[in-house]
Amino acid sequence: MSSPPSAAPATAAALLDGVTVAYGQHVALDDVSLELPRSSIVGLIGPNGAGKTTLLRTLLGMLSPRSGSIDVTVPVGYMPQLGPAAWDFPLTALDVALQGGYRRTGWLRRPGAAERRSAREALGAVGLEHMAGRQIGQLSGGQRQRVLLARTLMQDASLLLLDEPLSGADAATEAAFLETLRGLREQGRTVVVSTHDLGWSAAHCDLLCLLSTRVISFGPPAQALSAERLAEAYGGAMLVVGGVHILAPEGHHSH
Ligand SMILES: Nc1ncnc2c1ncn2[C@@H]1O[C@H](COP(=O)(O)OP(=O)(O)OP(=O)(O)O)[C@@H](O)[C@H]1O
Ligand SMILES: [Mg+2]
Repeated sequence: MSSPPSAAPATAAALLDGVTVAYGQHVALDDVSLELPRSSIVGLIGPNGAGKTTLLRTLLGMLSPRSGSIDVTVPVGYMPQLGPAAWDFPLTALDVALQGGYRRTGWLRRPGAAERRSAREALGAVGLEHMAGRQIGQLSGGQRQRVLLARTLMQDASLLLLDEPLSGADAATEAAFLETLRGLREQGRTVVVSTHDLGWSAAHCDLLCLLSTRVISFGPPAQALSAERLAEAYGGAMLVVGGVHILAPEGHHSH
């Protein structure tokens, strides 16, 4: 017998249905249902600890849900959230980008000329071709992030999960990054970007998922970012100043 037909429509790159994920007793995602369409840029927003990274890691298959089902219909690529890791190992930017192709080439085979050309192209796509030979430890934080994005592009995935790729990016990097995302969307790929930049996500994403353990809202930005939904996700930490929603500085309490 063949396996039962997938419940996901042809347009979805991934479908989550009632997904709950816990770390021990701590529920990090509660009953999350989402459909991630192909050819789209989806912003994942919500306060610290909302479950954004958990959701991405669950989509990647690194975490198993306690309940619910996940149907990922296309190959997945992942760019992890950068921590304060030590980067003093002897790898160049090109070496790191090349690692994105290891799923194709295998870890033990030396990458060939075609792989190296693709890795240079991926570095070019993030504006770092001229730094291909630079040691990774000698790059700035934002440049390192761009190298990791290049590595993710090398994975040739159709569902790209990018965990806060923009934190620390300057305006030029942000612009180049957006161009890259639009190119991926044009190729029919789905990009999920977690970010704390509400303005960026509202301006450039097709869909937004506002998360706070549960899905508070999911839809086009104007719909997903209503004042009520934002207040629900961010609590008292969200302020409306002159009609613009901003995150209150820590320690601020509205009266
Ligand atoms: N390995 C872990 N073990 C136990 N609890 C965890 C673990 N990773 C995350 N958590 C908890 O799960 C919740 C969701 O964490 P997650 O990292 O998904 O949030 P996030 O939305 O990505 O936050 P941030 O904006 O800070 O990156 C948090 O309460 C966090 O403390
Ligand atoms: Mg996170």
